Amino acid sequence: MKHDNIEKSLPLMVVMIVIALSWGGLVEIVPLFFHEDTTKPAEGLKPLTAVQLEGRDIYIREGCHVCHTQMVRPFRAETERYGPFSTAGEHVYEHPFLWGSKRTGPDLARLGGRYSDEWHRAHMYNPRDVVPESIMPSYPWLFEYKVDGRMTPKKMEALRMVGVPYTDDDIEGAKDAVDGMPEIEALVAYLQQLGTVTTKR
Ligand code: HEC
Repeated sequence: MKHDNIEKSLPLMVVMIVIALSWGGLVEIVPLFFHEDTTKPAEGLKPLTAVQLEGRDIYIREGCHVCHTQMVRPFRAETERYGPFSTAGEHVYEHPFLWGSKRTGPDLARLGGRYSDEWHRAHMYNPRDVVPESIMPSYPWLFEYKVDGRMTPKKMEALRMVGVPYTDDDIEGAKDAVDGMPEIEALVAYLQQLGTVTTKR
């Protein structure tokens, strides 16, 4: 078949484009599913505790990931500002990923340990109390609402099904560990562990 014929037939052209792109995608993406670098947990990586897991769900509920990324890209401007770039191994227990794509606020991938718990509490209550020029919204209700632990064990069971290594003990103690705790505490516990495990390089 001459190339001219393909170019003159729109349906044929569309089919050929789809085949070409799919093949390219398969060749690039499929090997990553089997590659150690992308599937092996980073050294020292642990699943989130029940408290941190509930904090993460609050983070998602409040839409923090809409303004904040959690991925340091491998560029000098990024690593100088935020710290070591992110690697796949740090994220193997995350379902779904919260890498994000929009940075209205700074990247949070290496946030853990950068500020004290008190700083975070003050900042969440009213960001302008600690960063006068901040445009981040206030989250005062996190200090009133309490975590409801009834679903926590079920969430951990679901995560275990997709490969997060929670033990029976982790799951058994989960409800009591979180139930009735102020939401702000769970959120801060989540924030303080962000990016504390880095892949050695
Ligand atoms: C409308 C966009 C927006 C949303 C939504 C948002 N933030 Fe922010 N955030 C910002 C901006 C802008 C800054 C930089 C100014 C400041 O520090 O307050 C910031 C700063 C931060 C910082 C300090 C980071 C650093 O390295 O100094 C933390 C921590 C943070 N946000 C956490 C959160 C959490 C947790 C949530 C969800 C409860 C959230 N943000 C929701 C815009 C947002």
